[in-house]
Parts: sequence; C-alpha cells; structure tokens
Amino acid sequence: MPSFESRNPARPADVVAILDLADAAQVDAAVARAAAAQLAWARVPVPARAEIIGRIGDVLAEHKADLARLVTLEAGKILVEAGGDVQEAVDMAGFIAGQGRAAWGTTHPCEMPDKFGFTTRHPVGVVGMITPWNFPVAIPSWKIFPALLAGNGVVIKPSELAPACCDAFVRACVDAGVPDGLVNVVHGFGDVGAAITTHPGVRAVSFTGSVPTGRRVAAAAMEVGPKLVSLELGGKNAMIVMDDADLDLVVDGALFGAFGTAGQRCTSTSRLVAHRAVADELVDRIAARAAGLRVGDPMDATTDVGPVITAESAQRIHAMVERAVGEGNQLVLGGEIVAPTGCEGGSFYTPTILRGAHRDSYIARNEVFGPVLAVLEVGEFDEAIDTVNDCEYGLSSAIYTRDVNRAMQAVHRLDTGIVYVNAPTIGAEIHLPFGGNKHTGNGYREAGTRGLEQFSETKSVYIDYSGRLQKAQIDNRESLT
Ligand code: UN1
Repeated sequence: MPSFESRNPARPADVVAILDLADAAQVDAAVARAAAAQLAWARVPVPARAEIIGRIGDVLAEHKADLARLVTLEAGKILVEAGGDVQEAVDMAGFIAGQGRAAWGTTHPCEMPDKFGFTTRHPVGVVGMITPWNFPVAIPSWKIFPALLAGNGVVIKPSELAPACCDAFVRACVDAGVPDGLVNVVHGFGDVGAAITTHPGVRAVSFTGSVPTGRRVAAAAMEVGPKLVSLELGGKNAMIVMDDADLDLVVDGALFGAFGTAGQRCTSTSRLVAHRAVADELVDRIAARAAGLRVGDPMDATTDVGPVITAESAQRIHAMVERAVGEGNQLVLGGEIVAPTGCEGGSFYTPTILRGAHRDSYIARNEVFGPVLAVLEVGEFDEAIDTVNDCEYGLSSAIYTRDVNRAMQAVHRLDTGIVYVNAPTIGAEIHLPFGGNKHTGNGYREAGTRGLEQFSETKSVYIDYSGRLQKAQIDNRESLT
C-alpha cells in the first residue's frame, strides 16, 4: 500500500510517522464500516454513549504528557500549548459526557385539546470530517464527541501534516470503549477529502480549514447531496485598544494573541486596532517584549515561539510581509525566516510587527496564519468598530478598555462570533459555542450545546391522545366556507 511520512516541522529530516495513503476504495470501506457500526450505536441509550465519551476524557488525561509530546513533534507547538490542545479535548469529553444527561429537545403545548408536541434529536448517520493540523487533538474532539453522542458513525481525514496525532486520539477512543468500526481514520491529501465529501453514504460533512477549500467542500457536497455541511474557516482577528486601556494587560494579551502558537490559530490576533493616543507607546512596548521572545525548538521548555508548519508556509508568510512593506508599512520588528541551532532545516518566522496599515491594506484584510501583527491606528471608538468589521472574516475580536459602556457597545456591534473584553482573541473555552460570522463559516457553531446541531437532525413529534381526527389550523377556527 502506498504511504507518506509526517515530519517534525522543527527538524524536517526527522520522520514522526509513516502512514498508509488511502484511496477511494478505502474511503468506501471506511464508510461501510462506519455505517454498519452506527446502526448498533444508535440503539445505545444516550447516557450510555455519554459514559464512554467521558471515559475517553479519562484516557486522554492519563496520556496527556505523551500526547502533548506527539503534538509538539508533529505540529511544532511548544509543549505547554500542546498540553492545552490535549486538555481542550479532555474538557470537551467532560462537557459532552454531561450533555448525555441534559435536555434532548423541547416540549410544546399544541393548539388542539389532548395533543402534545416535543422535539428530539435523530442521528444523521455517517459524518465525514476533515480537520486541520493546528489543533490536531482538540479539533477532532470538537467534532467526534458530539457526533458520537448524537448516535453517528465517523470517517475522519486529518491533515496530512499531523496524522499521527489523530491516530493517537482515535486509539484513545477505542481504548475507552468506542465500538470497533464506529470511528474510522483515513489518511491522505485533498483527493481523500473529496472522496469523503462526495461519498453517497456520508450524510454530513464537517470541515475546518481555509475559505477556498471550504467553498469547494460545500459545493461538492451539495452537488451530490444535498448534505449537511458545516464549515469553520479563516479569521482576521482584531484587538481594539482604547485610550483608557490598561496597557500592561494589552501588552501581555497582544503577545499571547499574536505570537502564541506562532500565530497559527484561526483565532490568532493579526490586527491591532489602536487608539492614536496610545499607539506609539503600545507599539514600542509590544516590540520590546516581542524582541525578547525565544524562537526555537518547541520541545525545549524555554521556547516561546516554535516553527511554522512548513517551509512553504514560511515563504508565504514572508511574501505577505514583503508585500506589506512594499505597500508602505513600516517593519517595526521581525520579518525573517530563521533556523535556530539544533533545528536545522526547520522554518521559523520571527515575531513580526508592521505599522502603518489602513483598513483597505492587503495586510489588514488577508489571513497570514503566522506570527505577524499589523497595527492600524484609529481616532475614536466608532472608527475602531467600523475598522474591525470592515473585513470578510468574522471569527474573533477583542476590546481593551476600562469603560464598561464602550465594552458593552463593542460586544453588541462587533461582527464576530467570539468577542473578548480585556483578553486577547484566542483562548475559547469548549462549553461556549465556537465559530464565526461572514466568510468564517456557514452559520454552524462547534462546541457548546450548539455543537450537536451539525451532527443531528431535529425531529418534531406530535402525540394526539384525543382518539379522534383533529385538524390543525381548521377545527379550532371558524370555517370560512
Ligand atoms: C483554532 O485555531 O482552530 O480559542 C482553534 C482558541 C483555541 C481554539 C483555536 N481554544 O484559541
């Protein structure tokens, strides 16, 4: 069987894992296995499904350190952040386990006597999932746990850049008691994703990745469907800093938001929308601290910023920075691809700050997915809000201010799915819905109680216990004829 390798982004000569490369026939087989296992799983009571999911959380917690090391090896995240990635899956397991004993629908009085209505959830069947490399444990957990709770089977294709993490995650699911064949991993590239998306046995597709790929996934799924398609796409997340903000807090937040995970979260802070009165001081202070961040081996506990995922990614980030400079932005800090000692062949991008962008600038509108912060200056609150909203993405935003009125106005006016007050744009917790507006998605949310929606059909049930035919909208109204 053909195979491919996943490599350590910090030292690409090191092979982390060798994976079987799937083809359409293997996708077929995986869908058939999932479909067969799903029939039995759908008959398992929801609280019993939830107990197994709770046990997955225990298994993940027990192996947290090993899993985190694998995340660091394969995705290049520094160890503490890799631990956070695994912890997010543990948290998700606990939350979903609890949902197994929560309300499963709503009840409704009916307009006729002796009649009652309620809603319940119905599994969709087999769910296809395509997941990215940057949260290689957390994001599969956001999709797989609610899909299982809702009674579905799963076929998942993780990113070819972090495949072993997904294998390890699914092994934990099986160790915890998920029945054989219910969750199936297929490895490969875009053609495997397309085979899942267009497979007639796959009823729902859940995708996290870029806007162009998300569009293709949705179009392909609809062409052969319709199917349920949930998309979680890019971001161009902004942090507003008003003139009354606590600048110490802002500096800490901007460093973590922009340069944490080497800027490779879809929630990373990539625009700093600063009030003119504080912009100079703020940029100086962020730059001074960012210059001290240690870029290096993510396995080393003293490292702050690990590699970017591939050499191509570093080149793409660099080209964006060069273009920004060419268009008149000032390079305040960074702007370099480096390979620290001990990380030969790795692609690391130094924390980068650009100043002078305005809302129409290329660098203010396009997702970088790297440690690059573009500073935009504004004169007052309304301009700050309009600047943030003037963007095709709508994932996460933040405002730093001590004025509660402004903070609450911002909460209402910012057109993003997630808003932070006095905290950076990253760091979502799993019991609140996660997702974005505009081109960031297509209306679904992951995690939280809404996370179940993409994996279940709502069924409306009417019970008529009157013993006679009752015609809604007719028998209880004066007839017109
Ligand atoms: C992502 O970048 O795709 O809110 C997910 C956060 C993390 C999840 C990010 N809890 O930053």
